[in-house]
Amino acid sequence: STLGASAAERGGRYFGAAVAAGRLGDPTYSAILDREFNSVTAENEMKWDATEPSPNSFSYGRGDQIVNRALSRGMKVRGHALLWHAQMPGWAQGLSGSALRSAALNHVTKVATYYRGKVYAWDVVNEAFADDGRGSRRDSSLQRTGNDWIEAAFRAARAADPNARLCYNDYNTDGVNAKSNAVYAMVRDFKARGVPIDCVGFQAHLGTSLPGDFQANLQRFADLGVDVQLTELDIQQGGNQAAMYGAVTRACLAVARCTGITVWGIRDTDSWRTGANPLLFDGNGNKKPAYTAVLDALNSG
Ligand code: G3I
Repeated sequence: STLGASAAERGGRYFGAAVAAGRLGDPTYSAILDREFNSVTAENEMKWDATEPSPNSFSYGRGDQIVNRALSRGMKVRGHALLWHAQMPGWAQGLSGSALRSAALNHVTKVATYYRGKVYAWDVVNEAFADDGRGSRRDSSLQRTGNDWIEAAFRAARAADPNARLCYNDYNTDGVNAKSNAVYAMVRDFKARGVPIDCVGFQAHLGTSLPGDFQANLQRFADLGVDVQLTELDIQQGGNQAAMYGAVTRACLAVARCTGITVWGIRDTDSWRTGANPLLFDGNGNKKPAYTAVLDALNSG
């Protein structure tokens, strides 16, 4: 009867939402969160700028608000995100080379250690590939510290929290394309060389059509020996939003190692995509047809 309960009955999967600490005081918002979801991701509160506002000085208050609230209700927590070229604190934006490398790895170690035992899966590295159609790494100060910065981050995260699932997370990787091919090659290489990686997150910020090879793409990653998760799902309203939500849910269910789905917000009015109305609940907190399509998909089969 709820997204979380129905997902749990499908092989112990979770159904999560991105949560903003500043909205938890809104009773409509928190009632839907508590009723429907069994996993949360902090929308901004566990990013580098939020957790390490000055060098080696950490601030976990807003992240803790989300994490402890979720854990006390038996929900899982997806940690988002240890390293990302965006939302770096100003002081880290001013660093480069070995100084940035050390600061980044210190960040990974300290934050993953702090949350050890509380986080089910971490987005260790977010959005490190470019949208250039060639599968290049994204140019960033982190990338300029050396191509091995991603594996260094995964190794540091594993050492800090051996029980968290460690994920690589990106967008526009939802179908088979140059970018997802490049991520695939990296994951295959990590698995071959023993670099610790457990999962790949597909953000799934979708427009009005679903790539025809969406499920096949999830499956090819799963076949590398990692879990796959839909980590930031939202779908533009205007096409057949409900049908697409249903199809995305069925695709995850059809892939044994697709362990869960997270929508990137609760009500349309909570979404970062202004005007897209891309979520499962309208601004008043009412269930949309998209909600019913997801629940029906979870309950059939
Ligand atoms: O909290 C401040 C507020 O004090 C200030 O007055 C206001 C003025 O700009 O900014 C507020 O911060 C904003 C923050 O969201 C909280 O609302 C930031 O400007 C804004 O940039 C930030 O946007 C977030 C965005 O990541 C940043 O890149 C979105 O909420 C968040 O949904 C979005 O999430 C990302 C994922 O982390 C990674 N994948 C893509 C996804 C969508 O962009």
